[in-house]
Amino acid sequence: MNIRKKVKSITSTAAVSSLALLLSIPVVQASSDGETLYMQHCSVCHQPDGQGIPSLFPPLAANLQMSSDDPETIQEYLRLVIFGYHGGLIVNNQVYSGKMPPIGEVGRLNDSELLELINYQRSSWGNNGRAVTFTELATAREAGRLKPGSK
Ligand code: HEC
Repeated sequence: MNIRKKVKSITSTAAVSSLALLLSIPVVQASSDGETLYMQHCSVCHQPDGQGIPSLFPPLAANLQMSSDDPETIQEYLRLVIFGYHGGLIVNNQVYSGKMPPIGEVGRLNDSELLELINYQRSSWGNNGRAVTFTELATAREAGRLKPGSK
């Protein structure tokens, strides 16, 4: 079989333009927004690949909390992201005692941006949690800040 011939036919103008069309569909756009927001607001500490830095910033990659569909775990996680957290926690047998800033409270992100960012994390780097909803975000805002050291 002539491979060169095959490659040539795949890269024909028609194939390339339909690929371009595929890449511009809204679903691809939405997930890249979540990624952009993550890069702007979280990656400086938790790192672009979500791996964190041992003993300084906990990993968000392959983090069981982010794959959990349990409503209480989701509430705790949303309150932590909205209002920040300090007082220490343990992830993968490593102790963390830094300060997580109140990203959702300072008014830099609106609720749809916050949801995009959160749902990006819940479906990236080995996490596979279901998408959280506007209603869950509103409940978390109502409940307020987590007690320091309560995790
Ligand atoms: C200035 C650094 C910094 C930034 C920016 C930051 N975090 Fe954190 N984050 C921390 C620290 C430090 C902790 C651990 C707090 C502690 O030990 O009490 C933490 C903890 C967390 C946890 C808890 C992890 C677990 O397994 O319990 C989550 C989730 C989290 N951050 C998400 C985010 C998200 C989402 C963003 C961006 C919107 C973000 N963080 C931005 C420093 C940061």
